[in-house]
Amino acid sequence: MIAFEAMKAPLGAFVQGFDPALIEAADFADVLADGLLAHSVLVFRGAEISAADLVRLGRAFGELEILPEPDKRHLDHPEIFNLSNVGPDGQLVGFDDPQAVFLRGTQRWHTDSSFRQVPALCTMLYAVQVPTRGGQTQFADMRKALTLLPPEDQEEVATLRLVHSYEYSRANNPGRMDPMTDDERAKYPPVEHPWVRTHSDGTKSLYMGGHASHIVDRDESESQQWFAEIEAQLSAHDVVYEHQWQANDLVVWDNRTTLHRLLAYDIANDRRIMRRITVAGRGG
Ligand code: OGA
Ligand code: MN
Repeated sequence: MIAFEAMKAPLGAFVQGFDPALIEAADFADVLADGLLAHSVLVFRGAEISAADLVRLGRAFGELEILPEPDKRHLDHPEIFNLSNVGPDGQLVGFDDPQAVFLRGTQRWHTDSSFRQVPALCTMLYAVQVPTRGGQTQFADMRKALTLLPPEDQEEVATLRLVHSYEYSRANNPGRMDPMTDDERAKYPPVEHPWVRTHSDGTKSLYMGGHASHIVDRDESESQQWFAEIEAQLSAHDVVYEHQWQANDLVVWDNRTTLHRLLAYDIANDRRIMRRITVAGRGG
């Protein structure tokens, strides 16, 4: 069975002993779920994982989300989202190409699918090809971030709810994205989530990030200022694990307890090809 080796970082663990044959073992999903709750980021290193095994691994964990953009789906496995700066023609995309603009959007601190009524449990990202420089992913421990707030703020945030909106985050992407169609707007209306989430192990964390437009009953600029102050603390304090990618790495992160962001790389010249699946939340 697999084992977890904690990283020398505030969060994260390497998963030892993984073999795709273990995926259907009776207690595999529970062991992985416990590891995820304890370590927030799990890194599988060294084993090549096929697209089909990636989907099996995700399914062992729960239902998979189908992401909003159909043009980025893997041809054989629609659950896989191709996160890549290489177009279908095999050529690198331009810096202002919609595909590159979308990828650049992940450079803001965020948690995946927080704009959904039932937001994602975890994301699994597998590296097919990694850039020669940059392109790391940072993960912030939002349990610890909560404890860094002054005590009176900790009390206040626990009483507040945030509005998360895909329309808002798309409109505020660093680079122009097409406005949402009426269809998309109807499918992804703004939703509210408590700012502080309580997990099954009793721990609490801040739930926020780039899809959060504002605090319920407060205006956007006041809300965004508070969000920015908290996010500014994430790099200043010891709450971040920075993943330096190698080809064949699989990183699984807990979207309930962490925020993440991509660090810049030369998107128009340096290939970065990733496969992503997202496990839907269970409403808890
Ligand atoms: C994502 C994401 C970051 C990365 O897929 O949701 O934020 O490093 N990716 O590619
Ligand atoms: Mn993301």
